[in-house]
Amino acid sequence: MITTQSFSAALLLSLPLTALAGLPHQGSLRRYHYDHAKKAALSRRNGPTFKLVDDYNNQTFFDMFDFFTDKDPTNGMVTFVGKEEAQKSGLGFVQDDGTIVLGVDDQTVLQPGQFRKSLHINSKKKYDAGNLFIADFWSMPHGCGTWPAYWTVGDQWPQNGEIDIIEGVNENTSNQITAHTGSSCVLPNTLAKTVGRVVGNQCQTINGDNRGCAFVTDDSITYGHGFNMQGGGVYAHIWTTDAIKVWFFPRGQIPQDIADGNPNPDGWPTPAAIFPGGDQCDLAQGFKQHNIVFDITLCGDWAGPAYAASGCPGTCAQAVADPSNFKVAKFKIASLKVYKQQ
Ligand SMILES: *[C@@H]1O[C@H](CO)[C@@H](O)[C@H](O)[C@H]1NC(C)=O
Ligand SMILES: *[C@@H]1O[C@H](CO)[C@@H](O)[C@H](O)[C@H]1NC(C)=O
Repeated sequence: MITTQSFSAALLLSLPLTALAGLPHQGSLRRYHYDHAKKAALSRRNGPTFKLVDDYNNQTFFDMFDFFTDKDPTNGMVTFVGKEEAQKSGLGFVQDDGTIVLGVDDQTVLQPGQFRKSLHINSKKKYDAGNLFIADFWSMPHGCGTWPAYWTVGDQWPQNGEIDIIEGVNENTSNQITAHTGSSCVLPNTLAKTVGRVVGNQCQTINGDNRGCAFVTDDSITYGHGFNMQGGGVYAHIWTTDAIKVWFFPRGQIPQDIADGNPNPDGWPTPAAIFPGGDQCDLAQGFKQHNIVFDITLCGDWAGPAYAASGCPGTCAQAVADPSNFKVAKFKIASLKVYKQQ
């Protein structure tokens, strides 16, 4: 016979209340709920609060971004299209269910060597330290030849910094979170615990090395096919002059305070990546006036050279020519919200 003492708190919480009706010790259960609620309320009062300042939603999204139509600075085999063309060719639009879709042309058959139409959009608004960005994706682009990214960046690269929240190439199964600076900045040897592992600690572009400092998340649900198969999730990052921290929450583990529109990063689990400020990195100097960017390029400086090693067939240019490779090369965005720390 199971006694109430052997129930874990988690199990008790997961049971419908009617299932508990006949159990003794209801008082202590109620007490548990009470303490739990009190603790949650207290931690919310102690930490900073956040006020929604920009809601990139199904009504406003495309009015809040500029379409970048210059040549891809990373040498991808893409033609970035403008707003009208994006809407006309179905590259950027809002689905009937309110989902915001950003994609690559998946219709046109090309000759190897020709460039494919794609998107690169920059938020009209620029942000400084003191903001929390919460992006909820149903799915993200992946596939041979693709190099998608969700990032923020300042003018005059690398002087005003760059933060890459989602980035990878081809059929990657892990995400790379990277910071780039112009001013001196390295990750300290001793870092707070992160889910991601450090793959580079030099954030500054120096002596021609522009790889940045980065964390890779090894769990395949954080990127590409694996991310999409479990319904995507939330990438959240807070940027203050003390630290830049990035979290990933898979679809089934999004904190309730995010769903409630009352985010409380102090209560969230271990971040995927932390870029701390301090003696070794002046975040106020390194990161200024960032636009939010989404882009999907093809081949180019990263996906190109990594193409064969990714197990992709033929050449990257051949992949670009075949539209069927880009059916799932889409960001499907449920919401993007920016909160200001109060
Ligand atoms: C668009 O967003 C609004 C506000 O979040 C929501 O109420 C509405 O249902 C969405 N529209 C669709 C078509 O989902
Ligand atoms: C993505 O795949 C390329 C090889 O195609 C590899 O060089 C790179 O490290 C991978 N990135 C991550 C984040 O796993």
